[in-house]
Amino acid sequence: MKQFISVNDVTDIDALVQKALMYKLQPLHSKILGINKRIGCLFLNPSMRTRLSTQIAAQNLGMECIVFKVGADGWSLEFEEGVIMNGTSVEHVKEAAPVFGNYFDILAIRTFPLLKNREDDYSEQFINQFVKYCGIPVVSLESATLHPLQSLTDVMTISEMLNLSNLEKEKKPKVVLTWAPHVKPLPQCVANSFSQWITTWSKSDFWITHPEGYRLNEKYTQGAIIVNEQDEALKDADFVYVKNWSSYDEYGSILNTGSSWMLNNEKLKQTNEASVMHCLPVRRNVELSDEILDGPNSIVTLQASNRVWAAQAVLSEILAEEKGVN
Ligand code: CP
Repeated sequence: MKQFISVNDVTDIDALVQKALMYKLQPLHSKILGINKRIGCLFLNPSMRTRLSTQIAAQNLGMECIVFKVGADGWSLEFEEGVIMNGTSVEHVKEAAPVFGNYFDILAIRTFPLLKNREDDYSEQFINQFVKYCGIPVVSLESATLHPLQSLTDVMTISEMLNLSNLEKEKKPKVVLTWAPHVKPLPQCVANSFSQWITTWSKSDFWITHPEGYRLNEKYTQGAIIVNEQDEALKDADFVYVKNWSSYDEYGSILNTGSSWMLNNEKLKQTNEASVMHCLPVRRNVELSDEILDGPNSIVTLQASNRVWAAQAVLSEILAEEKGVN
């Protein structure tokens, strides 16, 4: 693997999932693979799970990991070409990225969308500029439109649950991505990315449900059944992935703050005792009810702990590629 920006960088999802599951059983299996290698983790936005799981994953592979909060620890970066830098930005990515490329062997970056201009966000200008100018493998820690480490973890977690479950092996599990209410406009990254991964994986009967006005970019949803009736989607579901996103059409807006879309035990009765997923952080009793989060169907903390093994599988693939052992 040369980089990890989206599912398109992965040749075999199941093989990568199996590698992540192997690391879960044997965290130190490849403890010298990353000896004398250094990963820089750049954060332009906050993180808890992504930051810590990537640090632990790198450590398990013998790598040194340096975390740098761009803008807070260092200079604020400029990404526009040809700009006159007489405003607040101090340093251009054209200088910063090659410097990072000289300091590190792998560069991992979190850079959220601004949710102001759809074309700008969907051009993935920020992460693409790092790819263009740093000269080393780049790993997305969540970009403007995608969150591939989260999605790999999600597919891994579904695979793990299926291995443990009594579900019929011949029948594809029904996986439902449901929109949930939120008080702030959130990116479409997790929903886009989950949809892209689960449809590429093609081992589930995949449904998306959301209120009118919250369709996702169809580039990511090819192969999904999309309905505006949440009850119709939830019927007989084996996995329910709960996530808010702001409007793609009325870009970055909140159109519906109603609580009727929040999953609760009454709604869950329609499912096949579904496992409930969320990438976290979650706002209790806004996005997801206490009764679900504290109940037996929630697998949100299993999902979050699996972030380590997914990150470790990705980093090990990139290290192996660099060493020519793939
Ligand atoms: N799910 C996720 O990416 O969590 P953090 O924002 O805490 O990294």
